[in-house]
Amino acid sequence: MSDATPNQPDGGTERTPPAAAAAPAPAKPAVPAKAAPAGGESRRFFLFKFIDSVTLAWSAFVLAATASVLGTLRFMIPNVLSEPPSKFKAGFPDNYEEGKVVERYKDMNTWIVRLHGIIYALSTTCTHLGCTPNWLEREGKFKCPCHGSGFYITGINFEGPAPRPLERWGIRVGEDGQIVVDKSMKFQQERGEWTNPDSFIKV
Ligand code: FES
Repeated sequence: MSDATPNQPDGGTERTPPAAAAAPAPAKPAVPAKAAPAGGESRRFFLFKFIDSVTLAWSAFVLAATASVLGTLRFMIPNVLSEPPSKFKAGFPDNYEEGKVVERYKDMNTWIVRLHGIIYALSTTCTHLGCTPNWLEREGKFKCPCHGSGFYITGINFEGPAPRPLERWGIRVGEDGQIVVDKSMKFQQERGEWTNPDSFIKV
């Protein structure tokens, strides 16, 4: 077979150069790698930062809420467990001597006194700012160490800044004959409440 192409104007033949061998295929220009959109990276960065911030804030909130609940429980439970009873027995009236202050119940915020035919229970809280006075046997008075208020054995204030007498608790003789002090009841001299029969026991 011939490669000559017939019917050329010059009557000659023309050879078609072999396509493959004629010229090497031009190299495709290198396509530059697609650059990531300029904002993509930073958007992801800010998204992560945002998630981190939300997680941190949420964790802080949960921790604060837990601490608050635990603090409240801690505050409430000891009160429930350590609150002293408001009523207690204090032995038989005959065990109390005339003119004597019994300090055995001071940790119950109470002095018990037998004086002039009655027994009464005095609060150990100073009526100035709430300190606990001391009973001075020799001087026959209660003396507050904080600002110097003085109270007679009856509880009446007579010196220092205390504005009013000590308070008295409710007191009675129980069915078994023992004294019962009831701190849910209190009686104030300046209100005329010391004449209330629930504020003393006759002996
Ligand atoms: S608290 Fe007692 S005198 Fe001030």
